[in-house]
Amino acid sequence: MKILITGGAGFIGSHVVRLFVEKYPHYDIYNLDALTYAGNLENLKDIEDRSNYTFIKADITNETTMMSLFEQYQFDRVIHLAAESHVDRSINDPLAFVKTNVLGTVNLLNAAKSAWNDDFQNKLFYHVSTDEVYGALGETGLFQETTAYDPNSPYSASKASSDHFVRAYGETYGLPYVITNCSNNYGQHQFPEKLIPLFINNIINNEPLPVYGDGHYTRDWLYVKDHAAAIDLVFHKGKLKETYNIGGFNEWKNIDLVKLLCQQMDRKLGRPSGTSETLISFVKDRPGHDLRYAIDASKINKELGWRPSVTFEEGLNITIDWYLDNADWLDHVTSGAYRDYYLKQYKR
Ligand code: NAD
Ligand code: DAU
Repeated sequence: MKILITGGAGFIGSHVVRLFVEKYPHYDIYNLDALTYAGNLENLKDIEDRSNYTFIKADITNETTMMSLFEQYQFDRVIHLAAESHVDRSINDPLAFVKTNVLGTVNLLNAAKSAWNDDFQNKLFYHVSTDEVYGALGETGLFQETTAYDPNSPYSASKASSDHFVRAYGETYGLPYVITNCSNNYGQHQFPEKLIPLFINNIINNEPLPVYGDGHYTRDWLYVKDHAAAIDLVFHKGKLKETYNIGGFNEWKNIDLVKLLCQQMDRKLGRPSGTSETLISFVKDRPGHDLRYAIDASKINKELGWRPSVTFEEGLNITIDWYLDNADWLDHVTSGAYRDYYLKQYKR
């Protein structure tokens, strides 16, 4: 089986690529990635020489390239993760999100449909999406697969749109698809613009920890390898035309999570307890900030038997250790363009 994984040089994609390359030596894995600021082949150094792994540098917004790659390689299945993924960047540049997340997804759908020539036997378009398409919850309730889409940011609107296109290709052309909507991921190799790796990096460097608004926003956190394991399961056992929500029933208010992170970092860095908390700085809120996300993951649990393998404390512990042990990786990704982004975003 020839599997195209898009966005495989990014955070979640690199974990999915590694899992498939190692677990399924009889599959040919093609990692297609444009290597934007978020894509980093260092994430895959340990598997880059495997005989069942090929890297293709390409941009999914390029229609001609997508068509010819599908013709050339005759991929059987697609796991589509390539996207612009950061909400703050989407507020500053919505069009970049429309181009990659909407147009790029439609280009891939067209290329798959054309190469498969309407013969969809054993074919699959697996679309990786987010819980943010459901909008914001109040203090109670959970996102279910049947919850109406109600996206609030340019990022979530672009992801919602791409989900709709995938469904539409299923209904209109019979393209076999499955969609998963996952909650916030954390773990090794996450780019330090997202909350957890940004704050780990700032604590290491004694920089302020910019908590948006009052910090009482809630997210539902899942260890990235548990997300990759869920993707593996849905890829092999999921029902066509279905959506599965993925989450760890693990809600944290940002401020509580940041305090836990500070405590763990103080211990690991040998700093007196309470040192890192002094770095907390409440800053201007994110416009349109969604109050709360929380996933009801009972469908994937009941139907496919998936559940997270680690607790949040364990996952966070592994994640912090990885960042502390991989200072080179952090140095490489936080040099150059990252500094410009950081200064502009946090006006420092
Ligand atoms: P990421 O930003 O770390 O990685 C995205 C990857 O896509 C990068 O390697 C980048 O180079 C590549 N890419 C971007 N534009 C491209 C283009 N035009 N053509 C080809 N490649 C391109 O993102 P992530 O956090 O790993 O998220 C992966 C997917 O999972 C996204 O679709 C995202 O919406 C979804 N998701 C993320 C989370 C999360 O918490 N991070 C949660 C749920 C769903
Ligand atoms: O829910 C899934 C989504 O989770 C994914 O689809 C996105 O790709 C991913 O980026 C993530 O989106 P969030 O906006 O929830 O993640 P982020 O890490 O940017 O922010 C998490 C929370 O922390 C959010 O409430 C905003 C807050 N925050 C974030 C940053 C970067 C801060 O308070 N300060 C910050 O500097």
